Amino acid sequence: MPEASLGRRKLGAEQSPEELAIRSKIDALVAELYHLREDEKKEFAPGRDRVHYAGRVFDDEEMRSLVASSLDFWLTLGPYGEKFEQAVKKYFDARRFVFVNSGSSANLVAISSLTSPTLKNPLRPGDEVLTPAATFPTTLAPIVQNKLTPVFIDVTLGDYNANPELLAEAVGPKTRAIFLPHTLGNPFDLDAVLKLAKEKNLVLIEDCCDAFGGTYGGKKVGTFGAMSTLSFFPAHQMTTGEGGGVVVNEGKYAKIVESFRDWGRDCWCPAGVSNTCGKRFDWQLGGLPKGYDHKYTYSHLGYNLKPTDMQAAIGLVQLEKLDSFVKLRQIHFKRYHDAFKKYEDRLILPTKHEKADPCWFGYVITVREGVSRAALTRFLEERNIETRLVFAGNILRQPAFHGVDHRVHKSLENTDRVMNDTFFLGVYPGLTPAMQDYVIESVDEFFKQNG
Ligand SMILES: Cc1ncc(COP(=O)(O)O)c(C=O)c1O
Repeated sequence: MPEASLGRRKLGAEQSPEELAIRSKIDALVAELYHLREDEKKEFAPGRDRVHYAGRVFDDEEMRSLVASSLDFWLTLGPYGEKFEQAVKKYFDARRFVFVNSGSSANLVAISSLTSPTLKNPLRPGDEVLTPAATFPTTLAPIVQNKLTPVFIDVTLGDYNANPELLAEAVGPKTRAIFLPHTLGNPFDLDAVLKLAKEKNLVLIEDCCDAFGGTYGGKKVGTFGAMSTLSFFPAHQMTTGEGGGVVVNEGKYAKIVESFRDWGRDCWCPAGVSNTCGKRFDWQLGGLPKGYDHKYTYSHLGYNLKPTDMQAAIGLVQLEKLDSFVKLRQIHFKRYHDAFKKYEDRLILPTKHEKADPCWFGYVITVREGVSRAALTRFLEERNIETRLVFAGNILRQPAFHGVDHRVHKSLENTDRVMNDTFFLGVYPGLTPAMQDYVIESVDEFFKQNG
């Protein structure tokens, strides 16, 4: 666990023996509270207790780290934030990791960064971005919000990723970027997509919000694109409560990403620091007078999407557990895969690229003709088993996206199929063998009753 005193030391304040003694008592009490709650937990009772599709998985370490940072009372992104950003950067061996307050904000910042006037050839209104139509709303929204034109590609059933052949066909004279999620943690065909990006000079951004911990060809997803995005919402591979971030693999985006997160400012000083550039009062930018304080100089129409130091304090502990979370998700996935193989004539089971080793977000199923998704998911939900749809389905059919400028490449037949016939079960680390037994028995029961 990160040292309890981290924040205070960086604040420059020595902790007195009295304070250290109080902190140590609080630390022990927090651990005691966690264990008390654990002891009071009842054993899973099938039918009575809900089988969630996802949830926070933590122990006293996260709670103690959070409390330690709250006692420091830094609040805004500070010493824990700095340490967390460095830790994730190291995990990906990236140029930079910029922590933000959600995966949606990470997507907004990453896409906005492509339009920065500080780039040699920024994306301009009307430029096209290839993206699947079976998607998450805030993977698409930042494309539209930046006045770029989404070009919708159909997905493949089984892997639920944008079909790489269709991607290649869809490139037109205005196409500048590819923004693809690794759907439900399943890495898309990176060989094909990277080849296309190189040939057509397109920027690739990976939405890894559901895919943290997966690999392709032995290399971590999130390291392939110019940038990639993460979500730390509790349903995801690790959590900071709300939270997310941009992994920057191409150095030219590092300052830009940070600027969009931090009000659009030109200055890149961390919190509480001034004059990192060494010429705070020597710049002359825009129409400002020479020497105008760099701290108050803005080069982008930015936002404030910063998370807090307390979120980082949780993230530091969770990151250390990521590998074990990945393994558990893979074990849970395999358990369902083995159990449901016998229904392959009735269900399309998930498939993956041969080079992919996914950290699955869920166990995704499409019902074949003759099986009703509504009947199956209702049956499971009535037995207290949570099911989820593949996010927005065909996003063009969502009310928010009517009237949005776009281009569709060929048909969205499979996307509509996903909207009508696909759902997923959870594989998160908090599942127990008893819970999985119950889910499997319930699916067996459904097919016994429904032929
Ligand atoms: C693929 C994808 N992108 C982006 C997001 C947004 O992440 P957040 O909920 O942290 O805003 C999600 C959320 O689940 C997602 O699944």
